[in-house]
Amino acid sequence: QVVKGINGLDKVVLRQIRGSSAEVYLYGGQVTSWKNDRGEQLLFVSNKAIFKPPKEIRGGIPICFPQFSDFGSLEKHGFARNRMWSIDTNPPPPTTNSPSRAAIDLILKPSKEDLKIFPHSFEFRLRVTLGLEGELMLTSRIRNANSDQKPFKFTFAYHTYFSVSDISEVRVEGLETLDYLDNMKKRERFTEQGDALTFESEVDKVYLSSPTEIAVMDHERKRTFLIRKNGLPDAVVWNPWDKKSKAMADLGDNGYKHMICIEAAAVEKPIFLKPGEEWIGRQELSTVPASYYCSE
Ligand code: BG6
Repeated sequence: QVVKGINGLDKVVLRQIRGSSAEVYLYGGQVTSWKNDRGEQLLFVSNKAIFKPPKEIRGGIPICFPQFSDFGSLEKHGFARNRMWSIDTNPPPPTTNSPSRAAIDLILKPSKEDLKIFPHSFEFRLRVTLGLEGELMLTSRIRNANSDQKPFKFTFAYHTYFSVSDISEVRVEGLETLDYLDNMKKRERFTEQGDALTFESEVDKVYLSSPTEIAVMDHERKRTFLIRKNGLPDAVVWNPWDKKSKAMADLGDNGYKHMICIEAAAVEKPIFLKPGEEWIGRQELSTVPASYYCSE
């Protein structure tokens, strides 16, 4: 099941009978490819991405855990994205026994070094499933395995980079009229206007208590991405635009034009877990032709 990817890093390839596929690197537990049944790549991965630990991979779906961004004392976005995950040999039972099921179960447990910076024994099980129609589901189960009665808290995000033809032509629906924290303005709280989001400069916002469905419309490609989330109240929207891109060695100067990050997340209110408790956070991604989607 495990094959060699870039720089000899282990990856797992999921394939569906109708032609869709996905790739998951054990490094970071990171999805780095999601293709529809026509073989079109739906996720953005920078052509300057560095597939070399301990550098995180720029693109796909990095997992931010146990901390989103710098909302805490750990390194930015936590450490799950630059750890080597393992295949889970004792995964939770499948929710469907369908013969067309294509899925992989990974697990991350803290190393001795991790416990020095985050002194909590956790078990993070990640299931990546590719559905028959090419839909991509990520299910995270995080369990407090502390034996000393200590609860712990964390924040989380599926830092999904969608591939878009041209960021200036993209609209995001589902976040109108919500409150958000603006990371570019010291996390001050604002309220979004009534219109769908469009992009003409850098954006870095955490939308609070967002609906469970968000749509990303790419007019040029006549494609709409649907994001459905569960257990993840917030939604981060990020595009670094030109200046920040230039300052990032692994994005490439024009990379920002072809990506938008919409991140199903739990940021404002950290998740608390008592010993033995488990949290589940899901994200399901699918696409529909642009004309099919109607937000009403
Ligand atoms: C976003 C954050 O989720 O990730 C941004 O809101 C951050 O503030 C961006 O710049 C990218 O982070 P990184 O660590 O992958 O460069």
